[in-house]
Amino acid sequence: PFVRGTELFQAARKGHYAIGAFNTNNLEWTRALLQGAQDLNVPILIQTSMGAAKYMGGYKLCKALIELEAESMNITVPVVIHLDHGDFEAAKEAIAAGYNSVMFDGHDLPFDENLEKTKEIVKLAHAKGISVEAEVGSIGGEEDGVIGEGELASVEEAKTLAATGIDFMAAGIGNIHGKYPSNWKGLHFDRLQEIADAVDLPLVLHGGSGIPQDQVEKAISMGIAKLNINTECQLAFAKATREYILANKDQEGKGYDPRKLLAPGTKAITDTFKEISGWMGTRPVK
Ligand code: G3H
Ligand code: ZN
Repeated sequence: PFVRGTELFQAARKGHYAIGAFNTNNLEWTRALLQGAQDLNVPILIQTSMGAAKYMGGYKLCKALIELEAESMNITVPVVIHLDHGDFEAAKEAIAAGYNSVMFDGHDLPFDENLEKTKEIVKLAHAKGISVEAEVGSIGGEEDGVIGEGELASVEEAKTLAATGIDFMAAGIGNIHGKYPSNWKGLHFDRLQEIADAVDLPLVLHGGSGIPQDQVEKAISMGIAKLNINTECQLAFAKATREYILANKDQEGKGYDPRKLLAPGTKAITDTFKEISGWMGTRPVK
């Protein structure tokens, strides 16, 4: 069921819906996400940050884990194994490991260097049938050590970056990683519209957790085809796990059996995936 995702996300942009890009951290997380996608019969992109890949034991292990879990679960829906916010070296490593798709995040480089390195990654990736996401402007906040200023994407830079041959484009439009502050002003829809008019590629909305549903739906109607979600699953997992531990702390065998302990959090991730996929209008596969 493994695909590079280019055609799926192009169809999503054309059809005005989005496909979820969910971060994984371990075996349970991966299984929970695959289960959600299979239950709904929708495609899924499963991504590892550089930090998560390091935690899990490297890109080869991540790829093998996702593939073998999908095989043992008889997953039939399309799955994209993707590197999230990779630097130049990480993108090359993930390509060598055989990921289906990589994000090269050059937001912290001068734009010309971001452009040159993106071109190089596109060349390496496309030679192996791997798709590429690149970023213009930046995403505010922090995710797994990747920090951004929340710089609004420039339309000119977006056009130039699109010409490198990338498959998907992430743009800074007021979106933030992690929880949104209470004084957040919302997404910059005017800029999103300008970028969508100038660039025909599937657009990516990072920092998808915590954006009000009406703003997500509006952004999708304007060209967002990939919605990145990480924090929402972490919150759901932590809440369900905490509740289970508190409720069962005195029960022999239940309180400390790791498989029982991780089950409620795992289910909470599947439920979160299903809820958000509903908002996104992700189309079932035929
Ligand atoms: O790259 C991953 C996403 O942008 C996740 O952001 O943790 O705010 O949902 P989030
Ligand atoms: Zn992100």
